[in-house]
Amino acid sequence: MKRFFVCFTAIMGVLTLSAQSIYDFQVKDDGGQDVSLAEYKGKALLIVNTATRCGFTPQYKELEALYEKYHAEGLEILDFPCNQFGQQAPGTIQEIHQFCTANFDIHFLQFDKIEVNGENAHPLYSYLKSQKGFGGFDISDQRGKMMDEMLRKQDAEYDKKSDIKWNFTKFLVSRDGRIVKRYEPTEQMSNIEADIQMELNPVLSTIMARRSVRKYLDKPVEHEKLETVVRCGINAPNGMNRQPWIIRVVEDQKLIADVTEVYKKENAEQVKRDSNFKNMFRNAPNIICVCTPSNGGGEVDAGLLGENMMLAAQSMGLGTCCLGGPVRYLQTSEKAKFFLDRLDIPADYRLSFIIAIGYPDEKPEARPRDASKVKFIK
Ligand SMILES: Cc1cc2nc3c(=O)[nH]c(=O)nc-3n(C[C@H](O)[C@H](O)[C@H](O)COP(=O)(O)O)c2cc1C
Repeated sequence: MKRFFVCFTAIMGVLTLSAQSIYDFQVKDDGGQDVSLAEYKGKALLIVNTATRCGFTPQYKELEALYEKYHAEGLEILDFPCNQFGQQAPGTIQEIHQFCTANFDIHFLQFDKIEVNGENAHPLYSYLKSQKGFGGFDISDQRGKMMDEMLRKQDAEYDKKSDIKWNFTKFLVSRDGRIVKRYEPTEQMSNIEADIQMELNPVLSTIMARRSVRKYLDKPVEHEKLETVVRCGINAPNGMNRQPWIIRVVEDQKLIADVTEVYKKENAEQVKRDSNFKNMFRNAPNIICVCTPSNGGGEVDAGLLGENMMLAAQSMGLGTCCLGGPVRYLQTSEKAKFFLDRLDIPADYRLSFIIAIGYPDEKPEARPRDASKVKFIK
């Protein structure tokens, strides 16, 4: 029996390590039947470990409210009761389910009880914790301060571990299986709701999912897709519809390779430091060069055009990176002049920025944004 247990644990460990996405996991429903999370592909998921006798138990009501508001738009709430925190989820899953239905009239999915920490932690939770560690409690919030003090008394280093800290920790998963965020139980539900809205609305989720990509597959973007991206670009708002831009889409792989050869010779040290280096345009197979009038103006318009193109590309499964670095090089290198000559830019225009574009071979994390730069004047 012991051998079986060791073997089982090892298999589950391998499953966790080899899991490529959330859709690789199986869970059990409240009747003990296996359910593959692949069934929820295309839905935004809020995964939560719950308990029926916790100070946070009234959150069931708020979760049900979220579910009723957003289920039709594609939200699923996956509830996993767990008895590991203060033994506040006693009883069978049937008893728990009856309690939740009677007291909070829940309609979202409630799965079988699981463990979320320790050696018997469900592989799903090992994966979730590996994707999003503990980000700390907001100790300016009364409840956050209380949780921090309580947990620190038990373990002074508690905040260094990615373990689930208490009942009603939540993970938001995007429609394409990205673990977007982890919320501690004290997080305001209104903040979680704002993030859910972002995930459900395709425009907002595209905006929030876009990241600068610097590793691409060796596969040029199809001409029709580049056409679509550029059409979205020139559809951007622009002052008096003057369209003060010139755009050059480079599909010629040899031109990119040739200018990269020259760049490599002139920037040997820099290239040596970059172990991923494939080409001077952050390794993208295609580039879109955006030019504005030489005597100034048009930068705002061109910037809007650029973002339109990057968001269009994102929505089509393409990755992009806005580039200023190579522009400075191309404008100053005599040896690379052939590249700009080939672009055939009118004399009264100059290269302003480049958008690298291709099929992404990485999924970069979002770089932090400083919300304090924004003030609402009421
Ligand atoms: C005008 C401009 C110039 C940029 N130039 C470069 C560049 O030369 N090389 C690069 O790797 N990224 C470049 N970036 C990308 C930024 O580094 C990136 O947008 C920023 O770090 C935020 O990350 P995110 O796009 O993933 O949200 C540039 C972005 C802009 C808007």
